Amino acid sequence: MKNEDLIKIAIDSMKRAYAPYSGFPVGAVIITKSGKIFTGSNIENSSYGLTICAERVAIFSAISSGEREIEKLVVVADTPEPVSPCGACRQVMSEFGDFEVILANLAGKYIKTRVSELLPYAFKLER
Ligand code: THU
Repeated sequence: MKNEDLIKIAIDSMKRAYAPYSGFPVGAVIITKSGKIFTGSNIENSSYGLTICAERVAIFSAISSGEREIEKLVVVADTPEPVSPCGACRQVMSEFGDFEVILANLAGKYIKTRVSELLPYAFKLER
């Protein structure tokens, strides 16, 4: 699937965000190596720290559906430059491999990057 098509799916997901506190909806979509699509949007809470980002909702949806191999993650928000994922999401991404990540905005601008570029020297539980 083309990046532009994935960005459209992420924008649809962004419209389903629950972000009454920040007013900052975010959408995400994952395509797995098996070709399946999983979406996510940010879900906020009146206890602010319980908020979960769109990227993690999409990743957890894919993983809890039994998928383990992520091909690509796309994230979109209404920002002047393509939105950049938070540190917690970068760590969660790194758990599931060094996949491609597309950062986009509503103006159609996007950046292609990957997990190892977003989070170099990621923590791994190695003893
Ligand atoms: N947010 C995301 O969903 N993804 C990011 O990469 C950054 C931040 C959400 C969390 C919160 O609901 C809102 O954006 C403002 O921080």
